[in-house]
Amino acid sequence: MLKVSGLVSGYGKTQILNGLDFEVNQGEIVTLIGANGAGKTTTLKAVCGVIAATGGKVEFDGKDLTNAEPYDIVDAGITMIPEGRQLFPHFTVKDNLLMGSYKRAARPIMQRKMEEVLHIFPRVKERLSQYAGSLSGGEQQMVAIARGMMADPKLLVFDEPSLGLSPLLVQQMFDIIRDIAKHGVTVLLVEQNVFKTLRLANRGYVLENGSIVLAGSGEQLLSDPHVKQAYLGH
Ligand SMILES: Nc1ncnc2c1ncn2[C@@H]1O[C@H](COP(=O)(O)OP(=O)(O)OP(=O)(O)O)[C@@H](O)[C@H]1O
Ligand SMILES: [Mg+2]
Repeated sequence: MLKVSGLVSGYGKTQILNGLDFEVNQGEIVTLIGANGAGKTTTLKAVCGVIAATGGKVEFDGKDLTNAEPYDIVDAGITMIPEGRQLFPHFTVKDNLLMGSYKRAARPIMQRKMEEVLHIFPRVKERLSQYAGSLSGGEQQMVAIARGMMADPKLLVFDEPSLGLSPLLVQQMFDIIRDIAKHGVTVLLVEQNVFKTLRLANRGYVLENGSIVLAGSGEQLLSDPHVKQAYLGH
């Protein structure tokens, strides 16, 4: 579904990604793991058109999306839930959700999508008329994901969805991602919690200093000596 080949990107003259190859097949949950500064967020940004690729290719559903406009990438079916929540605090939860369905194809099914999303997030449903800025951190994170789903994505890209959440909400977040995948949405996930993430993911890639050094199934990576030592603390 998503095929990234030889991806090179960075900021200004600083090259961060040194030619990445990875793919995400339909229906999979795929994770990128790596230390702080390894280039995970940069990879997601380059895939989603937030920063430019200076080399390589991003293909989705057979279409070349390399350096396409973010809007066209959303239209093609890729939605990113960014690191941090980035809601509009002075708008209600409902308005924040409606802003998620700006993708042309999502508009006619807005009502159905809203029902589906509120079914997954009952807590968001209870707070539709509240200002987004007045929600707790965990609730805001759920609204951000719910808003992403309003675009009716084929591929949902998460950057650190459990950041700043209490242990209970972290578990809920993983349950929600599993649930979203069950609803037929393919998932590309970056998370600090490597153990939980590899247990959830079908496959994963290990990113070190802007290069992929290891790839495998979640299970393979969980039992890999390097992954154990570097990312699981044993
Ligand atoms: N806007 C920017 N301008 C310049 N350099 C940047 C910018 N954003 C990130 N970098 C640098 O790019 C490198 C990779 O950063 P990136 O955010 O992709 O890491 P990450 O793997 O997501 O880390 P973390 O786990 O801490 O989120 C880092 O060295 C970072 O300092
Ligand atoms: Mg990051």
